Formats: sequence, structure tokens, C-alpha cells
Amino acid sequence: MSKVSVIGAGNVGATAVYYIAEKNIDEIVMVDVVEGLPQSKAIDFLHAAPLRRYNATIIGTNDYADIADSDVVVLTAGIPRKPGMDRMDLLKTNVGIAKTAAQAIARYAPNAVTVVVSNPLDVISMVVLREGGFALKRVVGMAGILDATRFRYFIASKLNVLPSDVMAMVLGGHGDTMVPLPRYTSVGGFPLTELMPAAEIEQLVQRTRSGGAEIVNYLKKGSAYYAPGASAAKMVEAIVNDEKRLCAASAYLRGEYGHSDIFLGVPVLLGRNGVEKIVELDLLPNEQRELDQSAAAVREGVVTLESFYSPG
Ligand code: NAI
Ligand code: 2OP
Repeated sequence: MSKVSVIGAGNVGATAVYYIAEKNIDEIVMVDVVEGLPQSKAIDFLHAAPLRRYNATIIGTNDYADIADSDVVVLTAGIPRKPGMDRMDLLKTNVGIAKTAAQAIARYAPNAVTVVVSNPLDVISMVVLREGGFALKRVVGMAGILDATRFRYFIASKLNVLPSDVMAMVLGGHGDTMVPLPRYTSVGGFPLTELMPAAEIEQLVQRTRSGGAEIVNYLKKGSAYYAPGASAAKMVEAIVNDEKRLCAASAYLRGEYGHSDIFLGVPVLLGRNGVEKIVELDLLPNEQRELDQSAAAVREGVVTLESFYSPG
């Protein structure tokens, strides 16, 4: 019996539920503060069940108590950015929301693994950890899978190959300083660095860094949700099925990659307990430098956080 709860029934939350329903989960609960919103979406998802061939119980609710005993909780509640905004601009509002959510998770589903999606991702993950008092490995942020899937798509489209044949790794904070790693990227087993000139790879790296902003600029009222929803669902699947899936995710570091006491995107094995293992790659000096710069940007966010927030 598997139970997954998604907090926030907005664009990312609802899309995630739709994809999660297709992953053989027994019970899915959607929580939102807006009355009627999660209820209406849950009914709509159930109507699609015969066509999409899932058989999950899907409940929409405004009551956090309904997340009781979830195996995984996905936190998507919070405001998204608009054109001209940086993910850090969301901090003050989303910290308050994350606090409420983390306290509710600690109260009703203390053994759940929490997958944080709300932005600024790496800093909100820290708030959830501190507010919930969870074990370090049971809080994990969703960003690396999303950033990598964008990189994978851009590469596939450029080389005219099957997108799922491209594997990629993107480390660092979920922001402009993220660190796509061409050296750990391959197409059907062939290293990307042998398939494309360095200058072209660099263009795709830059497009990956601004992949979220590209969508915000078109959408104007919010940010991406189809690829983020699919990315969150992929993490849920890995956790519920104890897959030990190797992917990048935001994990709490204690010395790995030379950083401590921050969440940062690193390669992890995802399984039933959340972050089962942090995988340490041998980075070249330029790759390590970029990761250090990204960690410094996340740390700046934590300093801003601490200027107005203390746990409890
Ligand atoms: P949205 O505005 O469509 O949905 C957010 C939902 O949260 C709303 O329905 C709102 O009523 C709800 N909410 C607010 N306070 C709540 C609370 N205390 N409890 C329960 N629900 C509450 O926004 P969208 O597009 O779904 O984005 C959600 C968050 O995810 C944003 O912070 C966005 O920046 C972030 N995001 C992160 C990504 C990542 O890669 N980590 C990718 C895409 C979005
Ligand atoms: C994205 O990368 C907004 O973080 C979100 O699309």
C-alpha cells in the first residue's frame, strides 16, 4: 500500500499528481488552502482514470490531517515567479508557506520522505528540514532531474536523436549558477564531448541555465509545470519503489564536494529512505570551481533567509 501526498494543487502540484497517478500508487492526496480547488482537480483526475488506466484513490482536501501516514510528500505550495523575477524573489512568501507545510508533515506524516519543489528550491529545502526536524536524508529537493531533462532535450533536438537516449547530469543550485556537466553526459553511451563541438555544447549549457526563465518570459503569469511535474513524479516513483535511482537532486551536504550545511544539487541514489547515498564524482578544477560558485549563491540565499527567519 503506497500513499503519496502533494501539497499545493496549483500548476506543478496538479501536473505532478496526474503523472504520479500513472505510476501505480494506491492513494494520492492533494492539499491546498483554496477551498474547492484540490477537490475539483481530484474528481477530474478520477474521471480520466478509465482512459489513462490508473486505479489510484485520489482525494482533494484543505485539511493537512489527510496526509497522515504518507510514504512521500511532495511540497509544491508557494508562489511561482513572473517575468523579471529571480527564484530568490519568492523567498519571503514561500518560507511562510513551507513552514506551515513542514510542521504539518512532521505532525501527520513524520516518516515520509519530503520532496521539495517550491522555490527557491535549495533554501526552501533547508526551511523544511529545520521546521520538520526530519532525518537529513528524508528531505530532498527536485531540480537536478528537471535541469537535466531540459539539457537532454536540447541535445536530442540538436543531434536529432531520441530524447530518452540522452543521459545528463546537472549539479549545483537550482538557479542561474547551475552546473551542467558535459563530461558526464552521453548519447546512447557515446560521450557528448565526442559528438558535438565544445562551442555548441556551451550554447546548450547556457540554454539549460535559462530554461525556466525562457518559459516564464512567454507565460508571464507563472512558471513551467509540465516538465517539473514529470520530474517530481519520477522522484516519487524512485522513492516508493526503492529504485536506488541515480540522478541529481538537492541534498543536505556534510562535507561532500567540499560543502557543508547547505542543500545543493549533487548526484544521489534515490530510494525508500530518500537520499540513500550521495555519489561523489571526481570533478575537474573548472567543474569544481563552478560548483563552488553555485554553492556560494545558495549560501547567500541562506544568509538572506536567516536575516528574517528562525525555526519554530
Ligand atoms: P501555482 O500558483 O500554480 O500553485 C501554488 C499552489 O500553492 C496554489 O494553488 C496555492 O493555493 C497553494 N498554496 C499556497 N499556500 C499553501 C499552503 N499553505 N498549503 C497548501 N497549498 C498552498 O504555482 P506553481 O506553478 O504550481 O509553482 C509552485 C512552486 O513550485 C513555486 O514556488 C515555483 O517557483 C516552484 N517550482 C519549482 C520548480 C523546481 O524545479 N524546483 C519547477 C517549477 C516550479
Ligand atoms: C523552473 O526551473 C520555475 O524553477 C522553475 O522552471
